[in-house]
Amino acid sequence: MTFLFNSDARRGAIFADAFAKELPDVLFTMDAATVDPDAVRYLMTWTAPEDLARYRNLEILFSIGAGVDQFRLDSVPEQVKIVRTIEEGIVRMMQEYVALAVLALHRSLPAYLAQQRAGEWRDVPQLQAGSRRIGVLGLGQLGQAVLDRLKPFGFPLAGWSRSPRQIEGVTCHHGELGLEEMLAASDILVCLLPLTEETRGFLDARLFAKLPKGAALVHTGRGPQLDHKALVAALDSGHLSAAMIDVTDPEPLPACHPFWRHPKIVLTPHVASVTQPVTAALAVIENIRRHRDGLDPIGLVDRSRGY
Ligand code: NAP
Ligand code: GLV
Repeated sequence: MTFLFNSDARRGAIFADAFAKELPDVLFTMDAATVDPDAVRYLMTWTAPEDLARYRNLEILFSIGAGVDQFRLDSVPEQVKIVRTIEEGIVRMMQEYVALAVLALHRSLPAYLAQQRAGEWRDVPQLQAGSRRIGVLGLGQLGQAVLDRLKPFGFPLAGWSRSPRQIEGVTCHHGELGLEEMLAASDILVCLLPLTEETRGFLDARLFAKLPKGAALVHTGRGPQLDHKALVAALDSGHLSAAMIDVTDPEPLPACHPFWRHPKIVLTPHVASVTQPVTAALAVIENIRRHRDGLDPIGLVDRSRGY
């Protein structure tokens, strides 16, 4: 029984160590060229290899990240479970990034950075946290975790998901009507939706128009969810005040792209959260144990929803 790991050597060494200690009956390898394809029961990778079908006995395809949009789900054989990575490192980093972004936007950091470049010493009117409403698109593992981390600051918190949710201290919305309500009451909107056919192009001119004037955006979902031209237009018209963008399409952006130098945009290169190998290896091992015990792995993807 083999676990084939398709990643860099540094992560591989950490995973190999954890498998040797915790799951010694599973052969851990990174060598796809010499592996016996029939022995491969588990494959962990970012993108699915062209020759996925050669692993005829594959039971679980693990995504190295929290998202699975980089896989073509319909090209993965029906009996193979697709599992995304949920581990404490990736959750903690997303909490840090969104807290950083929300606080930066709340305290007008993009405006102050622009003023610094222009040599201006001037204060910007400041709302108190209790008057700055935060809306999070996506109430999954990461959406809920970031809301939890934002609680101590005292912002009014809201979130939106497909199905109804109840989260203490958070006004939860769902469905079309719920979206309208939340957008109208979001001074900072955070996108933590997975990329699916329904969420592609979701952050567009119509959506921005439903936000209050002066609202700001934090985008940590996936690049193709954001209409770049619509964002620039909303910022240039003054309808939106600023944006902190971690994911774009394409990645990286071409040198001439307006996001690079836009005074109201803070751009980071898809680094909001990164799988941490020490904790990820333990999460994967735990999932293999669950699978062997007949339980669903944590992070099992529902193919019909696409996430
Ligand atoms: P998750 O646990 O699957 O949660 C997804 C949430 O989005 C759920 O609340 C779901 O609603 C909601 N949702 C999905 N489609 C929807 C729709 N059409 N309408 C309304 N709500 C919808 O995912 P997660 O672990 O929180 O991760 C979210 C995403 O973050 C990932 O897919 C990935 O793209 C992104 N990410 C980015 C980075 C980065 O570094 N920038 C790092 C990691 C992850 P239900 O609760 O009703 O199902
Ligand atoms: C990163 O973007 C991930 O999906 O983990």
